[in-house]
Amino acid sequence: TNNPKSIIVIFGATGDLANRKLFPSIYRLYRNNKITDDFAVVGVARRPLTNDDFRNNVKKSIEAFQSDDIDHDDFASHFYYNPFDATDLDHYKRLNEFLLQLDDQYNTEGNRIFYLAMAPNFFGTIAANLKSEGLTQTKGWSRLVIEKPFGHNFESAQELNNQIRQAFNEDQIYRIDHYLGKEMVQNIEVIRFANAMFEPLWNNQYISNIQITSSEVLGVEDRGRYYESSGALRDMVQNHMLQMLALLAMEPPIKLTPNEIRSEKVKALRAIRPISVDDVDKYFVRGQYDRGILNGEEVNAYRESSSVDSNSNTETFVAGKILIDNFRWAGVPFYIRTGKRMEKKSTEIVVQFKDLPMNLYYDKTENVHPNLLVIHIQPHEGISLQLNAKKGDQGTVSKPIDLSFNNNSKDKMNTPEAYEVLLYDCMRGDSTNFTHWDEVALSWKFVDVISQNWENKSADDYPNYESGSNGPKKSDALLEQDGFHWWTVTPEEE
Ligand code: BG6
Repeated sequence: TNNPKSIIVIFGATGDLANRKLFPSIYRLYRNNKITDDFAVVGVARRPLTNDDFRNNVKKSIEAFQSDDIDHDDFASHFYYNPFDATDLDHYKRLNEFLLQLDDQYNTEGNRIFYLAMAPNFFGTIAANLKSEGLTQTKGWSRLVIEKPFGHNFESAQELNNQIRQAFNEDQIYRIDHYLGKEMVQNIEVIRFANAMFEPLWNNQYISNIQITSSEVLGVEDRGRYYESSGALRDMVQNHMLQMLALLAMEPPIKLTPNEIRSEKVKALRAIRPISVDDVDKYFVRGQYDRGILNGEEVNAYRESSSVDSNSNTETFVAGKILIDNFRWAGVPFYIRTGKRMEKKSTEIVVQFKDLPMNLYYDKTENVHPNLLVIHIQPHEGISLQLNAKKGDQGTVSKPIDLSFNNNSKDKMNTPEAYEVLLYDCMRGDSTNFTHWDEVALSWKFVDVISQNWENKSADDYPNYESGSNGPKKSDALLEQDGFHWWTVTPEEE
């Protein structure tokens, strides 16, 4: 068969990501016959668990799938646990022997995925030790999957990259950006390049601006320690937001191969107009959430969260204006916006078209309604198009109408989860939806300038937006000065 066969070694197997995302994703691949019985998962972490403890964790993480026709014990029997110290070479030797044994038992042909789902301090050490102890030299392939954060700035990202590159080639490295596994993010390219009615208009002659918003209702929860050293800029903008921007801005690839697509994305990122440290305030706005009311309940401020400094200067919201200096986009602002504790959980992209040179059909007391193409990424998955049509019986005034496609109406259980898609891609050796080092490097260089400005001066108006709102006022002003405003387009419920 063509089903991929491999052993997946998960570093940090007792962690949140493994339990919440990875185990259920492996299960769904198994249930959907994407992988057969030719697989094994070896969890490694510090804690002294037994195989049985580990299998119980796995079964717990897939509890929601009780009604399936699959014996959860059978599935969990593919999982093994090794207590592990990432700095002890003997542990790697022991692991290597164990993997060779599993190859025979599960027919996995020496194929290995090493999945680093843990705090990043040990990424470099683990990669080096995997190589020195021979775990990467098998008769099959070996791949490294690496979670964010990929560095803290360009310099540290480069250092990390150099470390892992000593043990793995670029084409063996799968840097996760889970947004690239989302159904509607993957749809951006298809919508753009498979429709005669969009691609010809997809440029500065017809588009006035593009808005990318990813808002969350949750606060920092129990991730204060990580988030204090990150903030929204590093947590969301450096990766997810700039990846979506690259997909919206890139030129059509000549082929759908990882290299062709990536080189178009890299070109788009290279065309972003750099800003200087002194100019950051003109283009970027930061915010931090205060107390507020969410779902009728009072919630506390960021500064009151656990492991957060009571005078913290960390931003939980970022809005920015990004210009792309190339033939297609000169003059078209891309606005991005992301934050925690906002009004609703939603990721959407709004493409606003320019007004016609002349339009007779509108009520002169109102503005013309522009055409909008909206790509709803989550929680609703769909596309909608705002058009103008005749209003009432007079026929001289138009009103906006909505053409929409809603992907949520199909059986939700079958919409693959981002991690399921990405893990399967990795098993098949398709790196299209992972980030290449060149993209990571360019994103950090852009973002570093902004954090340099912010780190050098405290935000004296913090906290500056209420929980449950849409961010600080300055975020609206950023668009108003260009004659635009943020669109919030709520799709019709099915
Ligand atoms: C992660 C960030 O990368 O993305 C989190 O670290 C954030 O802070 C999350 O909450 C958002 O992902 P999603 O898929 O829920 O939009």
